Amino acid sequence: MWWLSLAKASSFAPTQATKIAAEWDSLYQFLLVSSLVACALLIGGMIYFVTKYRRKTNHDKTPYISHNSMLEFIWSFVPLVLFLMMFVWGWSLYYDMRTVPSNAKEVHVYGQQWLWQFEYKNGKKLNNEFVVPVGVPVKLIMTSKDVLHSFYVPSFRIKQDVIPGRYTDLWFQAEKLGEFHVFCTEYCGLDHSKMLAKLKVVPLEEYETWLATTTELTGGPGAQIYNDKGCVACHSLDGSPKVGPSFKGAFGKNSMMDDGTEVKVDENYLRESIVNPNVKTVKGFPKAVMPSFQGQLSEEDLTAIIEFIKNQK
Ligand code: CUA
Repeated sequence: MWWLSLAKASSFAPTQATKIAAEWDSLYQFLLVSSLVACALLIGGMIYFVTKYRRKTNHDKTPYISHNSMLEFIWSFVPLVLFLMMFVWGWSLYYDMRTVPSNAKEVHVYGQQWLWQFEYKNGKKLNNEFVVPVGVPVKLIMTSKDVLHSFYVPSFRIKQDVIPGRYTDLWFQAEKLGEFHVFCTEYCGLDHSKMLAKLKVVPLEEYETWLATTTELTGGPGAQIYNDKGCVACHSLDGSPKVGPSFKGAFGKNSMMDDGTEVKVDENYLRESIVNPNVKTVKGFPKAVMPSFQGQLSEEDLTAIIEFIKNQK
C-alpha cells in the first residue's frame, strides 16, 4: 500500500524480529499516516476558509447558514469508519499478542533493582542475559523482587509491567537470529537506565545444547547468593565502583563513612551492612539505596556471602 511505503521510508523503528513486530508497525504507520492526512485536511481547510471568507470590508455581513445534512453525514460517517477500522485492527493484533500458544517454552523472569534474572525449567539461571530458540514461541512468566519494573524488547514490539507480588506474562516468537536489547521502561530508581539485558536468539539445536550445559559458579554458596540475591547489580568484583563499593579488596581495610567516621570492614560491619544497610554509608556512595536483606538470608547464607566478600582480594 502506498502509505505503508511512505511511512517505511521515514520510519525510525528498530529491526522487526517477530511477525507481530511487522504487524504492529503496519498498524502504527496507518495511525500515523491517517492522523497526518486528517491534520492536513483540518488545518489546511481552516486556513483556506479563514482566508477566503474573512471580513474584507466593514460592510460585509455574515450569511445565515443553518446546516447541511449531507456534509454533516459525511464528516461523521467517514471518521466513524476509520475509527472502527483502527479498533478492529488494534483489537485483533492485541488478541494475538495476548494469546499464548500452548506449546510455548516457559522462562521465568525476575526484575530487581537493577538487574534482570532469568531462570529456566531445569534450574539454569542467568543475570542480564538469556537465550531463546528461533521460530519457537516463548512465554515469559515475570515478577519483581522489589519495585515496579517494565520488560521491553523494542525489536519484538513487546512490553509488560513487572510487578511485585504477582505474575505478569509476555510471549513472542523470534524470527531473526542475533542479539536484541531488553530495557526496563518503568523508572525504578537510581540505576534504572542501566537495567539492561541481552536476548540471544539461536537455532533450536544450539539452544538445546546451551540449555543442557550447566554453568559452574566458582566461589561456592557465597557466589550463588551474590548472583541470585542481586548483589552483582551494585557491587563489582573487579574494583570498579558501581552503585555501591566494589567487593574487591574491601575486607579488612578501613573505610571512610559519609559522616566522617572511619570503620574497619570486618565480619560484623558486613553483617550490619547487609541486614541494616542504611546505618553506615561509605563516603562517595548514594545513601538509602540498598534494600535490607533482613529475613531473606539465613545465618548460613550470611556467613557464606561474608566469606565470599572476604575472598575477593
Ligand atoms: Cu527497573 Cu527501571
